[in-house]
Amino acid sequence: MFEVPVRMTVNGDGYRAVVEPRKTLADFLREDCSLTGTHLACEHGVCGACTVLVDGRAVRSCLMFSVQADGCEVTTIEGLAAADGELHPIQAAFRDAHGLQCGFCTPGFVMSVYAFLQDNPDPNREEIREGLSGNLCRCTGYQGIIKAVELAAGSMHEVGS
Ligand code: FES
Ligand code: FES
Repeated sequence: MFEVPVRMTVNGDGYRAVVEPRKTLADFLREDCSLTGTHLACEHGVCGACTVLVDGRAVRSCLMFSVQADGCEVTTIEGLAAADGELHPIQAAFRDAHGLQCGFCTPGFVMSVYAFLQDNPDPNREEIREGLSGNLCRCTGYQGIIKAVELAAGSMHEVGS
């Protein structure tokens, strides 16, 4: 079997493994880093459940090979909360605004919202809808998620995070 070495920094920790070139970044994170907060649903780029940050940009980790992230800095949902367990303002906003029900889609939403608010820290409701249009949720009806983004944007302004 042909395999190649891959190394990357995930949530500030270094990881290295020898993998088949076809291994996706999502599978690398889940299987080689034991970071199972990154979820897989459609596995073909439609639902956004697998969204992570690669060098600060939101990507669908089911569509990226792990070798493509070689040498990159990756952030997953496990990397957002503070070391003492305090939730990131986006995570807290999803909790407080009832932005989740089963929670399966939530890690992908939170990572997408993180990248979205970096680009647009003060979005209006239409921009939020557009910004989240690449993530699917089967439970919430989206209203709580939109409220969570508004809440997160406000609290991130307050703390300057
Ligand atoms: S699992 Fe990657 S977009 Fe759906
Ligand atoms: S909360 Fe269940 S799929 Fe979104």
